[in-house]
Amino acid sequence: MPENLQSLLKNCEDVLRLGVRTGHPRFFNQISCGLDIVSMAAEWLTATANTNMYVYYRRFIIKFQTLIFMKIQQVLLKYFLSPVFILMEKEVMRKMWEMIGWDVDKADGIFAPGGAIANLYALNTARHNMFPRSKYVGVKDVPTLCAFTSEDFCCSIYICIFIVKEYQQYFIYLFQKSKMIPEALEQKIIECKKDGLTPLFVCCTAGTTVYGAWDPIERIADICERHKIWLHVDAAWGGGLLLSPEHRYRLAGIERANSVTWNPHKLMGALLQCSACLFRQDDKPYDVSYDTGDKAIQCGRHNDVFKLWLMWKSKGMEGYRQQINRLMDLSAYFTLRIRETEGYELVVDPPEFLNICFWYIPSRIRDLDPAEKKARLEKVELNGKTNVMRLTRECGRDKYNTRR
Ligand SMILES: Cc1ncc(COP(=O)(O)O)c(C=O)c1O
Repeated sequence: MPENLQSLLKNCEDVLRLGVRTGHPRFFNQISCGLDIVSMAAEWLTATANTNMYVYYRRFIIKFQTLIFMKIQQVLLKYFLSPVFILMEKEVMRKMWEMIGWDVDKADGIFAPGGAIANLYALNTARHNMFPRSKYVGVKDVPTLCAFTSEDFCCSIYICIFIVKEYQQYFIYLFQKSKMIPEALEQKIIECKKDGLTPLFVCCTAGTTVYGAWDPIERIADICERHKIWLHVDAAWGGGLLLSPEHRYRLAGIERANSVTWNPHKLMGALLQCSACLFRQDDKPYDVSYDTGDKAIQCGRHNDVFKLWLMWKSKGMEGYRQQINRLMDLSAYFTLRIRETEGYELVVDPPEFLNICFWYIPSRIRDLDPAEKKARLEKVELNGKTNVMRLTRECGRDKYNTRR
């Protein structure tokens, strides 16, 4: 039965009343929180325009017979679909390539529905780059590939591996202590080669999801160059630091990556969802600047760029610089407060980013021997989210996966 307007409005009210107010300025969550008003206004406009980001224009062929020549002629017509937003996407990505430090004439990219899909784009592109035939004839003549990432990776990498595992075997190797240890990585690559595996992909994380750790990109880039392995930087969380000249040093070496995932819906505060997968590409086999349909795995695409474009214009580079610097200052201040408040202990000291993980130590165990105290603390039940991450890891670990 169709419901009347009154009833629909009531439904809307119920949804807002029963749901968590995640857009409230005082709702705090790690990775994304709050609501940027300019970004929200832009999202309204996006919804109103309801433009599909298929392509700049679409061609179609009309066949007709002329009376004079009585032969079939073909006329190529084109109609415009999303000219403004496709150009805008290109312009915004150009700025992002510039921030990464790439030659903007040798770069490409696409806005993807989230960082996990952006990582998937990167993984697939790495395989197509190493085995171009696999794009057309499948993977039957592709050897067993392996990918490497740190222990404190985002579980999205596992999801990508699961997906591609359907038709090609990937083994993933993890490195502990929140970040990759370059020496351990190189040793593992050599071992893999000896075992007949083909190292394909190294995923460096720039700002890990839980601890906010940074993999040493520069040193890992040296290793990838030596072994001719695709270097991907997952800067979904940390990419925003590129906007701060004071803090961008944490991403030193990112310009040497073959691909980068950068989620403006995280640190930059764009409304969900807004995520880019960016590529450094010296040789472009064909020009897809306007025909984005040929490079996306989707057919129709949501317009995720307008809210970022408008928000970036409203703040300017200086506004973003101040915003990021203030967040980093607040993080330093909070760290100080945790250190000087009795009963609290930092899990990682000093924290490197905005993730400040700490324990509250109940007074009855404060004076225990450190090992005993740690054991007691670790008994505290992990929260649901951590459990999900742990379970994802457990599921993904097979006999080839190693921990150090
Ligand atoms: C480092 C990192 N990479 C990738 C992702 C996945 O991004 P999304 O949630 O947009 O798919 C996350 C999400 O938290 C992340 O922290």
